[in-house]
Amino acid sequence: MRRNRLYDWTRRLVAENDLTSNDFILPIFVGMGKGRADPIPSMPGVNRISIDLLDDIVGEAQEAGIPAVIIFPEIDPAKKTPDAKEALNPDNLVCQSIRKVAKSYPEMGIICDAALDPFNSDGHDGLLQNNLILNDDTVEILCKQSVIQAEAGCHIIAPSDMMDGRVGAIRKALDIAGFKNVGILSYAAKYASSFYEPFRDAIGSKTALKGDKKTYQINPANIDEALRQVAQDIEEGADMVMVKPGMPYLDVVSRIKIEFGIPTLAYQVSGEYAMIKGAVKNGWLDNDNAILESLLSFKRAGADAILTYMAVEASKLLNKG
Ligand code: PBG
Repeated sequence: MRRNRLYDWTRRLVAENDLTSNDFILPIFVGMGKGRADPIPSMPGVNRISIDLLDDIVGEAQEAGIPAVIIFPEIDPAKKTPDAKEALNPDNLVCQSIRKVAKSYPEMGIICDAALDPFNSDGHDGLLQNNLILNDDTVEILCKQSVIQAEAGCHIIAPSDMMDGRVGAIRKALDIAGFKNVGILSYAAKYASSFYEPFRDAIGSKTALKGDKKTYQINPANIDEALRQVAQDIEEGADMVMVKPGMPYLDVVSRIKIEFGIPTLAYQVSGEYAMIKGAVKNGWLDNDNAILESLLSFKRAGADAILTYMAVEASKLLNKG
């Protein structure tokens, strides 16, 4: 076995997987104000930026060869309500950001979540009533939210809410509104995970969140359930599916890719980023090697693309050769 491992050139020749900037989607946190780049303490190196700084960060991503960005807003707490109505404001932070990116970088793919948590004073992805998340009422809002985001110029809607029937309903709403070419990336295998906490800091939903999300996100103990969810979402019209979190769930990525052969994306979530960067900060891991190995492992598992906060950093390393 070691003869093939002997030289750099033999190792390159027999490499089974490869990582390039084409594999990445960069998540961007957008917040209020002007000229702001607020560091997120639990995600060293990631800032929440105001809209006027979007051009810089998206420009950097484009320069690095990254195909798409996904936008997450930190909504003014004063605008968060139990009915999450700011989600339906065509001039909200998300829609403004979409328009800005579409105008400045027309070649850049733009993806947005369909979910209510940034806008909801309860911090949940759906509407909360008597301690229960309402399914169908939530789906109705998600459909409107999707259409508004498509109108602003979003290319792919990524429902991350985990309500039943939302993919089919959103597909229908987009088609009726004339957005047949707007795609759906379903967060199909989205687990009720403890690794989302830094993200909730970043968008300010942590303090708002009442309880947990176990009645709609998947139990980390299950994989058959994730496969059934993927089957259902494909049936309802998902163009791509996602597994989230990433590294602790690579078995799920692998099973989905093998069983369905659908474009399968995985999200290296905020807590995974925090773990690696936290260890790097302490001098316990080598930054460049750790981030590239973590991302390559997604490819080995069968992921077609990776949502990662390290997208620009990793692309720069890879482009350098
Ligand atoms: C919300 C959403 C979450 C993430 C993406 N969309 C958090 C959650 O479900 O609570 C997490 C991403 C990350 O942790 O990086 N619908």
